[in-house]
Amino acid sequence: MTLQESQLRLEKLIEINHLLMGTVDPKAVLKLILESAKQLFSAEACSIALIDKTHHQLNFAFSSGGADVGEFKMALGQGIIGSVASTGKGIVCNDVSTDPRFFKEVDQETGFNTQSLLCAPLKYGAHYIGAIEVLNTNHPAGFTEDDLKFLNTFGGPAGAAIERALIFSSTENAKNALEEVVQNHFRFIIGQSKTMTQVIDIARRVAPMKTTVLLLGESGTGKEVMARAIHQWSPRSANPFIAVNCVALTSELMESELFGHEKGAFTGAFAQKKGKFELGQGGTIFLDEIGDLSASLQTRLLRVLQEREFQRVGGSKNIQTDVRILAATNRDLKLALKKGDFRKDLYYRLNVVSMTLPPLRERQEDISELAAYFVKKHCLEVKRAIMTIHPKALAFLENYTWPGNVRELQNAIERAVVLAPEPIITENDLPLEICEHCQTPPNNISETGKEEVPQFMAEAVDHFKRTYIRKTLEKTGGNQSETAKTLGMRSSNLSRIMKQLGLR
Ligand SMILES: Nc1ncnc2c1ncn2[C@@H]1O[C@H](COP(=O)(O)OP(=O)(O)OP(=O)(O)O)[C@@H](O)[C@H]1O
Ligand SMILES: [Mg+2]
Repeated sequence: MTLQESQLRLEKLIEINHLLMGTVDPKAVLKLILESAKQLFSAEACSIALIDKTHHQLNFAFSSGGADVGEFKMALGQGIIGSVASTGKGIVCNDVSTDPRFFKEVDQETGFNTQSLLCAPLKYGAHYIGAIEVLNTNHPAGFTEDDLKFLNTFGGPAGAAIERALIFSSTENAKNALEEVVQNHFRFIIGQSKTMTQVIDIARRVAPMKTTVLLLGESGTGKEVMARAIHQWSPRSANPFIAVNCVALTSELMESELFGHEKGAFTGAFAQKKGKFELGQGGTIFLDEIGDLSASLQTRLLRVLQEREFQRVGGSKNIQTDVRILAATNRDLKLALKKGDFRKDLYYRLNVVSMTLPPLRERQEDISELAAYFVKKHCLEVKRAIMTIHPKALAFLENYTWPGNVRELQNAIERAVVLAPEPIITENDLPLEICEHCQTPPNNISETGKEEVPQFMAEAVDHFKRTYIRKTLEKTGGNQSETAKTLGMRSSNLSRIMKQLGLR
């Protein structure tokens, strides 16, 4: 090559580099590199293979005569280009039929007839990210060692431009994913199974009215999520949504929490305080775990529902209230009615419209969408690049019975997002009991067929507790109070332990 020719090439390379610096769309960058390399080496075609470690493959882009870019995938290390991508050592070959590494299938795929080639690694810093290949030069002397040196040099800025574009697009993807999560948040409810669609349909129809709604369903099925959605879909959405947990406080404190109190109404009432029914004017009050409301509060609540007015504790003035009441429980209210633990008249007032959130085991179709949603949500929370779920891990998730319902699924995914070493969640990243429960051989079965005990004592104890509680819950049909009784503990205690163990 004459000095003038190499000078021209160098000038061309600088010009291409400038163009690459101003391009961030990965497809546009690939196209620019493919076309430029064809020109630089007077070649008939050019291809680029990029290493995709997650899927153990090479992503291949190819351009021949026309400007169209074809794309396909190859196994890692396959063909001359695969070998250069993995070793980082460039190759000149003026007769491919003499090189056993030449992979004919690529020509079959592209319809191209390769005779000679020049291939060099694409670099980003000290790493090889793939390789670039120029095919069939028009030069009578064929490809030369000088050409290889030049392609090696080109591999630096070309690799950097590709990597920069990929990083840019993954940031864009993360931004889009965040927007999607935000949008989903407004959609509120994930789930397109038949049963969920029916429940969502009722919720949407009842949302614009002032009707009281009773939300039923096992723990973790999404009763509170649904209550928030009903509020959001109602004309009250600009006003407060106030959630009150009816078991969190003693009956007296709860009374003052709901209705407020006057100064001096009881010891410690140093100042007047407004209750939730006053603070929530124009909005929605969500009474969670209504089945646990004390008898005296049941009576007071019934009056509010009937008369739409109340008095603060220790007060005598009637206060009008315009709140919409939504209530939820995972207890069997009909049984509580029979036992006399829950007032019938209150039950009928609350139960104007009732809907039952189906347990997750009865809507297997929703699991993948929910899991993908939680992956995105938690990746964004812990600032990890958006991860994927391996199909085998997804199969485990879909086959598990989920006694803790959506909450348990969410906890399992949150844990996996934090613990998974790779950007793909495998069954090894899931809690033990999920894999144990399925037909597919779980990964904790060693070569000898013996079950491996969790490594740490605390982990083993937690594992036992989780299984024990889950089995008892299954026996009582998900009834938490019954389960607590069977296990000889207080309901609140069981509730706390279940939360700790990620079962609720
Ligand atoms: N359909 C859904 N879409 C998105 N997230 C959901 C859905 N259902 C439940 N979740 C999530 O699962 C968790 C449990 O939901 P929620 O608190 O509404 O359950 P619950 O029925 O009120 O449970 P509990 O009876 O134990 O109070 C929450 O973190 C919620 O965000
Ligand atoms: Mg709840």
